[in-house]
Amino acid sequence: MGHLTKKVLFDERAIAARVAEIGREISTKYPEGNVLLIGILKGAFMFMADLVRSISVSCQVDFVRISSYKDATVSSGKLDILLDVGMSVENRNVILVDDIVDSGLTLSEYKKKLLERKPRTLELAALVNKTGRREKHVDLDYCGFKIEEGFIVGYGLDCDEQDRCHGSLYVLEDDDSTNG
Ligand code: PRP
Ligand code: MG
Repeated sequence: MGHLTKKVLFDERAIAARVAEIGREISTKYPEGNVLLIGILKGAFMFMADLVRSISVSCQVDFVRISSYKDATVSSGKLDILLDVGMSVENRNVILVDDIVDSGLTLSEYKKKLLERKPRTLELAALVNKTGRREKHVDLDYCGFKIEEGFIVGYGLDCDEQDRCHGSLYVLEDDDSTNG
């Protein structure tokens, strides 16, 4: 593998426009407000920050920190919950928010855990729906962008903890693969 370069996939304007639309959808769906958004750290931090500011009804936020075993040799399908939700979700309108859906393990498994706690409603939001390597079925209620493949960084998404803090979304490309 050669040197990786970042190519802009969705710039700040495109992201802002999609996030604003999702915020409007949520505001319309819950006119009574009092929505609880639960962001999955670390990846969702930037999407959450922008999303809550585009929701015009009252909402509250909480965060969880989850890491999934992605090593192909470990097909346990288990999540490591490093920080669980701190607020009560019982009888609340809850939206679980992540930056990207890849295999689907994180959202599908944590959704099951949240449902045990009897929210009134539970919806799923992700900025990027990456469909090419799906293993667990995930039904997104709110989705920013759909892509098939590619290693995506920026806007909260990292490659080995790098590149989370950029305002745009980039795809990492191997220079060698573009030879000729
Ligand atoms: C990434 C991403 C999603 C998850 C998606 O998080 O932020 O939460 O993977 O992958 P999946 O659909 O295959 O489960 P990661 O566990 O890398 O941690 P991070 O958010 O701290 O970067
Ligand atoms: Mg994550």
